[in-house]
Amino acid sequence: MMAYYVIVFLALISYAGSVEEQSVSFKNCMKSSAGAATSIETIALTSSSSQYQQALQAFEQNPRWVNSSSASTSPTTPLVILTPLTASHIQAAILCTKKLGMQIRVRSGGHDYEGLSFLSYSKAPFVMLDLNKLRSIDINLADETAWVQAGATLGELYYKISKASALHGFPAGICPSIGLGGHISGGGFGTMLRKFGTAADNVVDATIIDANGKILDRKSMGEDLFWAIRGGGGNNFGVVLSWKIKLVRVPPVVTAFNVQRTVAEGATKLILKWQTIADKLPKDLFIRVVAQNTGANSATVQVLFNSFFLGGIDRLMPIMKQSFPELGLQAKDCTEMTWIQSALFFGGHSKDDAPEALLDRVTTFKSSFKAKSDYVRKPIPEAGLEGIWKLLLKEDVQAMLIMEPYGGRMSEIPESEIAFPHRKGNLYNIQYLVKWDVNTAEASSRHVRWMKSLYSYMTPYVSNSPRATYVNYRDLDIGTNKRHNTSFAEASVWGIKYFKANFIRLSQIKKKVDPHNFFRNEQSIPLFS
Ligand SMILES: Cc1cc2nc3c(=O)[nH]c(=O)nc-3n(C[C@H](O)[C@H](O)[C@H](O)COP(=O)(O)OP(=O)(O)OC[C@H]3O[C@@H](n4cnc5c(N)ncnc54)[C@H](O)[C@@H]3O)c2cc1C
Ligand SMILES: *[C@@H]1O[C@H](CO)[C@@H](O)[C@H](O)[C@H]1NC(C)=O
Ligand SMILES: *[C@@H]1O[C@H](CO)[C@@H](O)[C@H](O)[C@H]1NC(C)=O
Repeated sequence: MMAYYVIVFLALISYAGSVEEQSVSFKNCMKSSAGAATSIETIALTSSSSQYQQALQAFEQNPRWVNSSSASTSPTTPLVILTPLTASHIQAAILCTKKLGMQIRVRSGGHDYEGLSFLSYSKAPFVMLDLNKLRSIDINLADETAWVQAGATLGELYYKISKASALHGFPAGICPSIGLGGHISGGGFGTMLRKFGTAADNVVDATIIDANGKILDRKSMGEDLFWAIRGGGGNNFGVVLSWKIKLVRVPPVVTAFNVQRTVAEGATKLILKWQTIADKLPKDLFIRVVAQNTGANSATVQVLFNSFFLGGIDRLMPIMKQSFPELGLQAKDCTEMTWIQSALFFGGHSKDDAPEALLDRVTTFKSSFKAKSDYVRKPIPEAGLEGIWKLLLKEDVQAMLIMEPYGGRMSEIPESEIAFPHRKGNLYNIQYLVKWDVNTAEASSRHVRWMKSLYSYMTPYVSNSPRATYVNYRDLDIGTNKRHNTSFAEASVWGIKYFKANFIRLSQIKKKVDPHNFFRNEQSIPLFS
């Protein structure tokens, strides 16, 4: 009898050709799972549903895949978008997709630069888990921690913390609509990284659902897996349900300043100086540099010194006078504010906007973009910077470099402490970004080509062996898994860039916790071999 069912079942898989049939098989499997039977139709969207496109694109940041390629090279979208309301829905979805030979992609905030949370370039049939209904945040001020579900955003977290305490914060990224699921999985850093490290450095526990559908916490997953999920990249080891984070203490008053100079006004010399001090300044001070053209026909490059200080103007001014007098910073350039106001300020709002603006998950402004990143370990000489300006002025859409200083706490944490590896010896991280409004195949290939020429130009000035890069600024150009069983050696081409020596341990842990390589995508950690 059993054998009969197995045969019928296998036959069903091989004949389940059409997208509609596969979606129905998945939904039927979900309906027959304990705990998931209720309301499957209301939480599962198939491509024939009128809400499917909206749900697919709601949180996406980079629609570069739209209009950019032919049907043969364009990525596929989910067979089913499932919005779990409980952990049991995720458990059932893992078991059902596994049984039906489908893959799973998880989306928390949808900010993946290459859209890997909702697209498949290998065209494998997959179900997307959209975690946007799993976003509770429970703050425990008594022990200065919080449990946050993976579908919550940074803005929601910052807002909730500020409602509970004016003296606590959390060191994570700058854009409020980023999801905590993907962000912490890749590390996550923002204005407080020099003081407190990455978001992943401040995680003390987590719950995750593994490839067998089991819910594990730190104790039951063990220290290897708990190490791997802090910076080893999303969608590799399981579905993170929640993180327990350590809140950090922030002063009642912080200070922000923006000083802008063009290259014509001598900004190059300021950057030369900045490169020698930015990683050595007191940990309370973060000065990042944004250098950009001004779109088509820009005459000069604009350079912004965009800064955050954990303290008031009184304490900031003497530090600036001593370390960076060339910038000519004056008290009137600085604005004192609360920590939550700084989250608004850096998140693209005004500090005086209602903090509820941080709760907005859907970005009204999104545009197609291509980005890459590097780590700089020795100052780039003047001639090197001048070459970058020439390239920026050649591009006819908005193009920029964002240079974020490391040092401080980042240099104190050993490379092997958690899976995120970029520590001592880095002066700063550079992100290169080019963005354009209306995407076409021609626009996409032209701007990506420009980005590649900049990346190639940068080779002598940035880290090498490996040429390190940040997994949260995902870049599929550095290499992808070609097959289900892409070997460790093949994947090392890109894996070592993201994870340095930690790639080996990640791959060993992958083999142990997901031996059938169930959680996978174009850049998932391969099984160690
Ligand atoms: C506008 C913008 C600004 C940014 N600013 C910063 C910044 O200041 N600092 C910084 O460090 N980064 C920044 N990033 C990068 C950001 O940290 C990454 O894109 C991050 O991975 C996004 O997480 P997400 O949950 O929003 O994305 P998603 O697209 O949902 O997920 C990203 C990856 O993680 C996987 N994943 C998602 N949720 C889970 C989960 N629960 N369990 C397991 N795997 C999961 C996905 O499958 C995907 O592979 C920015 C990105 C954008 C678009
Ligand atoms: C795709 O092309 C159409 C038609 O030119 C355009 O209106 C739309 O904005 C493009 N989509 C993106 C994401 O650029
Ligand atoms: C990967 O699997 C294919 C068949 O699925 C096999 O032919 C190939 O040899 C395998 N490659 C490696 C590196 O194991």
